[in-house]
Amino acid sequence: MKNIKIKDKEFELFIEAEKIENSIDRVADRINVDLKDKNPLFIVVLNGAFMFAADLLKKIVIPCEITFVRLASYQGTESMESVQEILGLTESVENRTVVIVEDIIDTGNTLTTLIEELKKQHPREIKIATLFLKPGALKYNLHPDYVAMELPSDFIVGYGLDYDGYGRNLTDIYKLKN
Ligand code: IMP
Ligand code: MG
Repeated sequence: MKNIKIKDKEFELFIEAEKIENSIDRVADRINVDLKDKNPLFIVVLNGAFMFAADLLKKIVIPCEITFVRLASYQGTESMESVQEILGLTESVENRTVVIVEDIIDTGNTLTTLIEELKKQHPREIKIATLFLKPGALKYNLHPDYVAMELPSDFIVGYGLDYDGYGRNLTDIYKLKN
């Protein structure tokens, strides 16, 4: 098993890039069918979703717009209760089909706040596409429409996800060793 060290912590190889890519292809296929005539606006949540968004959106073949927002809810390996406002959303979401593109849903706090904020701008519907879902950690009543992979509650890095700013560039997913 391949191990790596990031700052003070040891991580072990958990999910290889090829498996991630296959699960993203399946999500893209479904979105292409479901949202064919809906002219969706994809809202990519930075920083973590950048790699997922790039791979997912290359496979989207229907007319769509793509924009990026920034929020923050994590420091180190502990989920923070407070989430900041949405930064960078200049497009109007009124009466649009919006697809939030997230890296991972852990407690669901970040996404719940984002959805509440977006609803104030009266979108027609809000869909959620997430690379990873940790069902065991979920504390909010969220039902993501598109989930590439469900994972146990372990802390992971790679493929856009970081530990204290590092590890986002890794193409495979590593999990924290206990
Ligand atoms: P939530 O608000 O608890 O759902 O956490 C969501 C955010 O925390 C995600 O968008 C990630 O940026 C970050 N996060 C959650 N779990 C992990 C993890 O295992 N590794 C790295 N970041 C994570
Ligand atoms: Mg995120």
